[in-house]
Amino acid sequence: MSNLIQRPRRLRRSDSVRRLCRETRVSPDSLIYPIFVDETLQGVRPIESLPGQNHYGLDSVCQAVEQCLESGVGRCILFGLPARKDEIGSSAWDDRGVVQQAIRRIKEKYPDFYVITDVCMCEYTSHGHCGILCEHDVDNDKTLAVLAKTALSHARAGADMVAPSDMMDGRVAAIRAALDAEGFENIPIMAYSAKYASAFYGPFRAAAGSAPSFGDRKGYQMDPHNRREALRECQLDVQEGADILMVKPALSYLDIIRECADRFDLPLCAYSVSGEYAMIKAAAAAGLVDEKRIMCESALSVFRAGAGMLITYYAKELAQAMKEGAIG
Ligand code: PBG
Repeated sequence: MSNLIQRPRRLRRSDSVRRLCRETRVSPDSLIYPIFVDETLQGVRPIESLPGQNHYGLDSVCQAVEQCLESGVGRCILFGLPARKDEIGSSAWDDRGVVQQAIRRIKEKYPDFYVITDVCMCEYTSHGHCGILCEHDVDNDKTLAVLAKTALSHARAGADMVAPSDMMDGRVAAIRAALDAEGFENIPIMAYSAKYASAFYGPFRAAAGSAPSFGDRKGYQMDPHNRREALRECQLDVQEGADILMVKPALSYLDIIRECADRFDLPLCAYSVSGEYAMIKAAAAAGLVDEKRIMCESALSVFRAGAGMLITYYAKELAQAMKEGAIG
């Protein structure tokens, strides 16, 4: 007779065994840190809506990179605040624009630091929408041309990867074609594929000065009611040649992350957005939660859901926590 154990297991696991049996592994290599560069700024200025985060002037953007490297984070995503905005967002594709200059400065000093750029028009247009307007609506196809020009100018400045966040239909294909035509076949595209029209972007829009001056982004960003639509958006980006898919925000969309991870074989990124960070910061400042543990647990949930990489304002602190063994 087999000697089946009939009693409940009461094994106390040692720390060593718990580490051995972990199902989710995380490393600083999967973290990407957002950096905001302000063309009108000299030095560093704290961002009010994102406690602990800063705007950097072009003269000090390398400080942000140094801090990343010190904590073991080797990758960033750049956001620019231009000195000038206009109706069509022309400073977005200016070869001497804020992001283009920031890339050059970073690459001059830290050629191995990996620079991803956010490709979108909302920080550059006077109306704050993510594309070119026709009456009161964003004109999808006109916007494709300027997105492609913008991505190309980032690549020329030395960006390692471009990440379109505008949610226009067809932008991945348009950007791919523009990059390939100039010999940038090896610059990958990380597509903000399933980007929801979310209230969690509030602190970012305050920080980037990119809130729409009228209307909202519901015409081009996704409806939080929808799940299958996210799969369709990802499918389209796969077909258009995306190299990495992204789900954004992260915490309220863990189901979407799981489903995209199961369904698609491209690498999957999640963006833990400004509102997610600000909520933890506020709750911690009020003494309501243990910031470090909440930070670690939230990040773990995103990786456990299936994301392979994470854009987060906590990247440096998470890398530190990994070094200390608080998460790993
Ligand atoms: C640009 C963009 C936004 C974010 C990333 N890229 C704002 C938006 O869509 O309004 C949000 C990031 C965050 O909240 O941290 N379109």
